[in-house]
Amino acid sequence: MTENYLHRIRHKALRERVVGADQAASLIRDGMVLGMSGFTRAGEAKAVPMALAERAKAAPLKVTLMTGASLGNDLDKTLAEAKVLSRRIPFMSDPALRRAINAGEVMYIDQHLSETVEQLRTCQLPPVDIAIIEAVAITETGGIVPTTSVGNSASFALLAEKVIVEINLSQPEALEGLHDIYIPTYRPTRTPIPVVTPESRVGFPFIPVPPERIAAIVISTKLDSSSTIHDPDAETRAIAGHLTEFLKHEVAQSRLPSHLHPLQAGIGTIANAVLHGFVDSPFHDLTMYSEVLQDSTFDLMDAGKMVFASGSSITLSAPKYRDVMARFAEFKPKLVLRPQEISNHPEVVRRLGLICINTALEFDLYGNVNSTHVMGTQMMNGIGGSGDFARNAYLSVFVTKSMAKDGRISSVVPMVSHVDHTEHDVDILVTEQGLADLRGLSPRERAQVVLRNCVAPEWRDALEDYHGRALARGGHTPHLIEEALSWHDRLRRGGSMKPE
Ligand code: COA
Repeated sequence: MTENYLHRIRHKALRERVVGADQAASLIRDGMVLGMSGFTRAGEAKAVPMALAERAKAAPLKVTLMTGASLGNDLDKTLAEAKVLSRRIPFMSDPALRRAINAGEVMYIDQHLSETVEQLRTCQLPPVDIAIIEAVAITETGGIVPTTSVGNSASFALLAEKVIVEINLSQPEALEGLHDIYIPTYRPTRTPIPVVTPESRVGFPFIPVPPERIAAIVISTKLDSSSTIHDPDAETRAIAGHLTEFLKHEVAQSRLPSHLHPLQAGIGTIANAVLHGFVDSPFHDLTMYSEVLQDSTFDLMDAGKMVFASGSSITLSAPKYRDVMARFAEFKPKLVLRPQEISNHPEVVRRLGLICINTALEFDLYGNVNSTHVMGTQMMNGIGGSGDFARNAYLSVFVTKSMAKDGRISSVVPMVSHVDHTEHDVDILVTEQGLADLRGLSPRERAQVVLRNCVAPEWRDALEDYHGRALARGGHTPHLIEEALSWHDRLRRGGSMKPE
């Protein structure tokens, strides 16, 4: 390795702690708790976990792995296949790890993303032994400058016994200055979090770790993985169209200003496509206060629609990454990355009055939403930040296509097979069929609007039939309790919800 990294370690004494990834990984022992950077495939430590997985082939060991959210570079896959993970917290989206979780081989704690470090700080989760944090640079005082995500890195580094820093030479030095590291004070005497606009900067541009706790520094060069989202299609464009019409109506009724309120949009293809649809909307001077900034954020900035975006990570497709990094000086004044407990903090979400757009796997007649469990049992990804946002939103919107798996699954069902967001946390439901505004409606009224506006035509008769018979039986929230999950049961038995 040449010495082209020395200027990135500005605390001179720390330069002596540069070691190889294998040597740094040897600090990790069986049973340890690791707190690692990484949020929705952005800014994860890359070299040390790979070295750990390699080492585990010869000398098996198990660790608890906490991160910000999902990891890129197939790290969750590699670690799961090396059987290194005993516990995984708080979010993942990798198919191999998903299989291990659903087989009961990895204990998965699927948590609201704002909560993990709150629980760590108050010893409600086991303490972090080693934090492994990807950085652009180390400052003169030993401060760690994160890369494309902040996630839980700041609290992991501040709370861990030891810290390993991975300086990634492929991450542009221009990222320095992008981050705003604010750590809330202890409860119950906590002072208000001083974020009062998406643009507020209230902390340090680095993680202020005492240099003596930095046990090793590793130099890496691997890029972040690209996002896996697909381009908008006719259905996601229709969803975006329905939502735009609804928001125009809200503006016309003076319930929202023409620049709306700050937007939050969840991970995945659908939420990204919906946000992208705002490019063709009449709204302007938009802002975001979200957790992951995807391609759509930068498309909206380029279209002159969005003026500022606050998040916890930047996760882009390969062409968008190249474009954004080439023009980073242009975007940087319009961006800030925060710890996920601040980007997702209920206090701030409620204060800023966010319009929150998240994705459902399925929702039911009464507005309950399942975002995580296929057929009520099989973990998909996790709740992520959707609960942090939905519960506290100004407008809580859930979007999904009305059918999945070539029409074998209706995403609108009599009763959801798992509840992540209860009817109390859901204002608006949108499919490509239309939009249901549930605000101020009783369960019986909600069912009418959902049936009328959201259900695919091929499923409407079956759902109306169910609802009609449930109404005849009565109740505040009418159900045929013995039949409510029969659609999922048919799917489990025959691969389709359709009657045999
Ligand atoms: N039953 C079974 N599978 C379903 C389904 C249903 N009702 N609805 C969708 N799916 C499947 C799709 O077929 C697709 O499968 P594939 O990967 O085999 O192609 C998969 O779920 C993903 O759906 P897709 O339509 O591609 O949407 P997406 O990429 O937008 O992801 C979620 C949707 C719900 C999985 C994703 O948004 C998520 O994990 N959400 C929870 C976390 C969250 O909301 N965080 C927000 C704050 S960041």
